[in-house]
Amino acid sequence: MKYKSQKVAYWFFALCMLLFSLQIVYGFIMGFDRIGIQGLHDIIPFNVARAVHTNLLVVWLLTGFMGAAYYIIPEEAQRELISVKWAYVQLISLAVVGVVAIIGFHLNHWEGRKFLEIPRELDFLVVINVLLFLGLILGTLYKGKRRTTTALVLTMGLLFAALLYLPGMIWFDSQVMDSFFRWWVVHLWVEGVWELIMGGILSYLLIKLTGVDREVIEKWLYVIVGLTFLSGVLGTGHHYYYIGVNKIWLIVGGIFSALEPLAFLAMALFAVNMYRKGEKSHPNKIALFWTIGSSIVSFVGAGLLGFAHTLPQTNLYTHGTLVTAMHGHYAFWGAYAMIVLAIISYALPNLTGRKRYQSATGMAAFWLSNIGMLGMTVAFGVAGVVQVYLERKMKMEFMVVQNEISIHFVVLLICATMFATGIGMFIFDFFKYGRPTDEALEIKKN
Ligand code: HEM
Ligand code: HEM
Ligand SMILES: [Fe+2]
Repeated sequence: MKYKSQKVAYWFFALCMLLFSLQIVYGFIMGFDRIGIQGLHDIIPFNVARAVHTNLLVVWLLTGFMGAAYYIIPEEAQRELISVKWAYVQLISLAVVGVVAIIGFHLNHWEGRKFLEIPRELDFLVVINVLLFLGLILGTLYKGKRRTTTALVLTMGLLFAALLYLPGMIWFDSQVMDSFFRWWVVHLWVEGVWELIMGGILSYLLIKLTGVDREVIEKWLYVIVGLTFLSGVLGTGHHYYYIGVNKIWLIVGGIFSALEPLAFLAMALFAVNMYRKGEKSHPNKIALFWTIGSSIVSFVGAGLLGFAHTLPQTNLYTHGTLVTAMHGHYAFWGAYAMIVLAIISYALPNLTGRKRYQSATGMAAFWLSNIGMLGMTVAFGVAGVVQVYLERKMKMEFMVVQNEISIHFVVLLICATMFATGIGMFIFDFFKYGRPTDEALEIKKN
């Protein structure tokens, strides 16, 4: 069954594509900075580029999650969104906040908690925006005919993500307290509630794409939610090792964060098993690739590469180096970027009525971006390990080491070009589908 109000999702996805391409531009600015090509340095210094790059990442992913919710919730709840008009108001205000933030970063050189650099006034606008979004989603679920586990897990993830934004807004004089609560947002997002969002989208996509019974799929979802909370909450301790809090966190953080890969492993096994059990008859192979790919790459990027530096003994050396950037890129890519690209790939043919399932551009986009990002991860990893060795073991000066490793950024840029070509093709394909139509959403089909 399709619903006309699902059309809103398309415009969220379009904004998502726009912000994603901007994020990549700032990635390149930093990459070139690192090899000494610094033409833009006076207008966009490295720290500004870095803040814009990471904040844009968070915003385009959230825009994608919102689009996913506007697409999925009407179908799961079996009714139209309670208000399409307000959904567009929310979209436009989100875009406005985004634009103001990007300009602000350049003019004011805001600094603050990493990933959460926007000033308090904008924080309040974000809160209002998110409340409007949640109101629309919760209202639709409440009035709907059906409340599925998939919809509830997705909505719980979005609701908790909003609540967890608040501790990041409290002002502390103490650097230790500031750090302590910053992780409630950053860690409990990506290693907690965002996993529920991912789990919800994954579950929806697997139900649609594999044809396996909802009961079977949603049973797995419970296991994933359980594993996520069991490990992720106390796993926050892996950021508390050396920030000046009680040393008990060395043990708690070490043990629980070491268990975190289990949730991602469960997700990968889940997706692969459902695919194998399923009918393999759904024609949208591109969406299937992104879906299964997301579950596997997130296990590698978050699970394995996260585990690589999560024990206190290793984190003592790797903390805050390019080893972190290696893990940050592959984890964000696999878990959250790929699942957003998966739901977009699934939704587009249904929204527009054009069935371009075999599009060669779409397939090339998948492989180029994935191979490119894998290469970038390796480049960051090699640079990171060398950095740890020279800086932390041989005690060389920070800037001297940065010069030594700049060659790895040449490799990074080559791989990034491949990655960006893939994403360019994805976006090209996105626009080639054309606009969503009411007729497409009138056809009764999955
Ligand atoms: C999709 C899930 C994940 C994402 C998107 C992610 C992303 C990130 C990012 C961006 C950072 C840098 C944060 C900052 O310095 O502000 C980070 C740090 C870290 N992550 Fe993850 N991560 C994920 C899952 C995991 C998992 C499952 C583990 C452990 C098994 C882990 C272990 C770590 C550790 C130990 C650090 C601290 C690195 C340091 O001390 O510099 N991560 N992660
Ligand atoms: C053309 C593509 C890209 C390039 C060239 C690039 C480059 C960079 C560079 C140079 C940094 C700063 C590392 C440092 O501190 O020295 C960075 C940070 C970061 N980028 Fe990218 N990036 C790209 C795409 C992406 C994508 C697609 C994602 C997410 C899926 C991403 C996520 C991040 C994150 C989370 C950080 C912060 C890492 C940390 O806290 O250590 N980047 N990027
Ligand atoms: Fe963490």
